Amino acid sequence: MGGLHRGHRQLIRAARGVGGRVLVSVFVNPAQFAAGEDFTTYPKHPDGDAQQASAAGADAVWFPAVEHIYGDAGDANPERGPTTSGPQPEPSLIQTLCGPWRPGHFEGVLMVMERLLERVQPAVVVMGEKDWQQLTVLRQCLPAFYEQRCRLLPVPVVREEGGLPCSSRNCRLSPAQRRQAALVPQALRAAAAAVHAGERRATVLEQLVRGRLKAAGLEVDYAQLVHPLTLQPCPRLDGVALLGVAVHVGPARLLDHSFLLARKPIIAIDGPAGTGKSTVTRLLAARLGLLHLDTGAMYRAVAWLMLESRQPIRSGGALQQLLETMELRLAWGDHGQQVIRINGVDVSDAIRLPRVTATVPRVAALPEVRQVLTRQQRMFGRQGGLVSEGRDMGTAVFPQAELKVYLTATAAERARRRAADMTQRGQAPPPLATLEAQITERDHLDCTRTEAPLRPAEDGVVVATDGISVEQVVDKLEDLFRQRVSHDAWPAGRH
Ligand code: DC
Repeated sequence: MGGLHRGHRQLIRAARGVGGRVLVSVFVNPAQFAAGEDFTTYPKHPDGDAQQASAAGADAVWFPAVEHIYGDAGDANPERGPTTSGPQPEPSLIQTLCGPWRPGHFEGVLMVMERLLERVQPAVVVMGEKDWQQLTVLRQCLPAFYEQRCRLLPVPVVREEGGLPCSSRNCRLSPAQRRQAALVPQALRAAAAAVHAGERRATVLEQLVRGRLKAAGLEVDYAQLVHPLTLQPCPRLDGVALLGVAVHVGPARLLDHSFLLARKPIIAIDGPAGTGKSTVTRLLAARLGLLHLDTGAMYRAVAWLMLESRQPIRSGGALQQLLETMELRLAWGDHGQQVIRINGVDVSDAIRLPRVTATVPRVAALPEVRQVLTRQQRMFGRQGGLVSEGRDMGTAVFPQAELKVYLTATAAERARRRAADMTQRGQAPPPLATLEAQITERDHLDCTRTEAPLRPAEDGVVVATDGISVEQVVDKLEDLFRQRVSHDAWPAGRH
């Protein structure tokens, strides 16, 4: 909406990084202001905006007039409020945070975004993470984004020296008001410190923030802990949640938020063999600085041990004893590769042998084996910081994961991938029809076993990988992760 500042310049630089040409639109959207809000006094500095945009790397700046966007402009009259002709926000997303305080606002945001996208047809839209609710509503309610005709690239919040998030409205603050406004990020930091000290109750965390701000004379609209994706109130912090705040400081209404983490994030990836799960998980883990936990390797290691000790693949006393005395250890190399040892033997390679692959589905169906391995996997989950891959990660082992993904592909596609994989490993692949039959048979075993059968988690996201590259799948999963965990909460790269 203009009044460009460091935050906007960062968006433009991020857009430059994507490649292609960068267009900046500057449009103070009347449809998102209610009567009595600051539409007429919103900062407008077209000359300064054009200069800053160009210096930051924009190829063009577009200042559309109201009639360019809204035709006769009738439906953008702030006095009449927005019409209902545009895409509508999902009601549950506007029940919390700013929703109740700004009736009609998100309808207006959706309307202008739809029209801007129609006119420009960009490949990528770059937006800041500061107005998290706006970002969430757009991602989930604007067809161009959820139908993936256009990628939304979120950029971390840029803050002023005192910690205040950069915002066009900050320019209206006097020096004293600016100091007062800086108490907002301070209060949010105090909440994060309380979480660090063990506090998990939303009421206590919200009250802590509200109390500090009120004591400093600020008028607080809300301080609310919500789930970052659903924006539903979160009574207790279990994994990752967003604490959002809106306050009035002098003439300005300011927003800020902080992601609170009870532990590091967890991503659960399930799906049948041959969907590219391992490669995708490895690359995603590296991008996000998370540990790659390959739980299939754990089942394979037990299968290897049973084969090695010539033990029949069934429940009973012998299996009980093997599990009680077994020592399964995981470690990660410099490049994030998982090394697996069982009873002191490094079996990282041996578990990939065809005889292990052929045996493991029956081993994985044994309840005692699942119980022992699930317990061990959950131990890793206490701290979080994982991308775990398997068959029951989202459904049984980590139901609390921030992101649960179910990767699929047709059996024919998976047979082709498996053949290529075997050739690369120096193994001679059987005919494709045989591979496809084996894959279908394995799927059947994994999906119909009574213990933790393979299926998508209820709140999981199903991602079909036929015909899309590994990179594209990883991009998609990163997007899904960023809808749940911001860059501030969990920056990319190593941790
Ligand atoms: O993904 P993979 O092929 O390495 O898995 C080996 C076997 O272990 C496969 O039959 C599915 C099973 N498995 C499981 O049942 N649960 C898991 N969490 C991981 C793998």
